Amino acid sequence: MSTLVIVGTQWGDEGKGKITDYLAKKADVVVRYQGGNNAGHTVEKGGVQYKLHLIPSGILYHDKICIIGNGVVIDPASLIEEIENLEKQGVSIENLKISDRAHIVFPYHIRQDELEELAKGKNDLGTTKKGIGPCYMDKSERIGIRVCDLIKPKVLEEKLKRNIEKKNKLFRDLYGVEGFDFGEMYKKYLEYAEKIKPFVTDTTVLLYDLIKSGKKVLFEGAQGTLLDLDLGTYPYVTASHPIAGGVTIGAGIGPTMIDEVIGVVKAYTTRVGKGPFPTELFDENAEFLREKGHEYGTTTGRARRCGWLDAVILKYSVRVSGITHFALTKLDTLTGLKKIKICTGYRFKGEIITDFPASLEDLAQCEPVYEEFDGWEEDIQGAKTFDDLPYNAQKYIKRIEELIGIKAAIISVGPERNQTIVLRDF
Ligand code: GDP
Ligand code: IMO
Ligand code: MG
Repeated sequence: MSTLVIVGTQWGDEGKGKITDYLAKKADVVVRYQGGNNAGHTVEKGGVQYKLHLIPSGILYHDKICIIGNGVVIDPASLIEEIENLEKQGVSIENLKISDRAHIVFPYHIRQDELEELAKGKNDLGTTKKGIGPCYMDKSERIGIRVCDLIKPKVLEEKLKRNIEKKNKLFRDLYGVEGFDFGEMYKKYLEYAEKIKPFVTDTTVLLYDLIKSGKKVLFEGAQGTLLDLDLGTYPYVTASHPIAGGVTIGAGIGPTMIDEVIGVVKAYTTRVGKGPFPTELFDENAEFLREKGHEYGTTTGRARRCGWLDAVILKYSVRVSGITHFALTKLDTLTGLKKIKICTGYRFKGEIITDFPASLEDLAQCEPVYEEFDGWEEDIQGAKTFDDLPYNAQKYIKRIEELIGIKAAIISVGPERNQTIVLRDF
């Protein structure tokens, strides 16, 4: 058995797409297990950019089975658009499989997301407004509509009618806005159902059989550990479970079927949306990282908040996901900085703490303690081995390994597949 989970260790956008695409070369199957089209994974291949939101980053290989698991929430309009865009780029999606248990995003979820953000005013979360939170809310409320319902016109009719009635009342009474017309939405979703139907299957059976027959499986996380509903900076989190534990629920396999977990670590930290960010920078270094690293969201185009690498967060991520190795990405973005810092602990109430606190009030009082490193000037985008890297870059990587207690397996020095240094094979 050989299964590997790829998780984001920070607040998302660590480069999970690039690492998944790279590792997919040797895999047979790639699975998305949580989140929805709030994710934006950019993969570059031969100078061409591919933007993936719902479809696993293994799709660019043509021969990999790509599974959208039951834990994912699917906006069919977005999925169909993504399929069409990929086909226009010459990518075949014939190996795509969609779980019959995945929940469906409807326009009322998107409206609810927007209205709730507006209602929160200055306390908004800064969501992607893709309806992700409200869709997972309906799932928990047990009124969600799943793929297996979508493809049965009678079931869809009954459930959609009931939900639209309920949501329209909510929109009218709570937010004072117009609701939705059932007939129009039903018609549109019947069309979506026809397009999606050929891909639908019980992916838990498929995946179990594939793993049992010795196929190599990658689980591609979306978002990151600090956006996890339980373990992230609640309430400034997403509504799903990006941590490795999310795989068992979101892909429908048991924990004994997971072999290894690789954490994707961006060489500095970014965050989109609101919420605490202890090592956030507001000076020229933030500007440098944002511009050099093109730190603008794939999904919303928002400028990402930037800051130094935070080893407290990384240690936390290693612990809660049982991460065995890490992939360091965007090391090349740091090239040209005179000094680079890593946060090694937080000063809190006169003491140094290294365990990430739960309370946002405590976190607000935490002051990062930094270790400073000399930077490097050499272009590292062509580096093929660890020894090709400048001494100061090597020192930076070794210190991260020491601080978080696991080894780097991959060092990414550019967005392209071949800009990848491999230290350990998977
Ligand atoms: P994801 O959401 O974790 O998949 O990350 P995103 O795709 O949202 O953001 C990462 C961005 O960095 C993408 O545009 C990638 O093409 C790019 N990228 C990934 N790895 C590297 C790297 O090592 N160096 C550089 N310069 N860009 C990278
Ligand atoms: P990838 O997979 C970065 C953030 C939003 C917001 C919070 C809640 O590309 O790493 P949501 O719409 O999920 O309810 O928003 O989560 N967020 C992400 N930030 N990368 C992502 O995905 C994100 N998906 C959601 O900005 O702060
Ligand atoms: Mg992203």
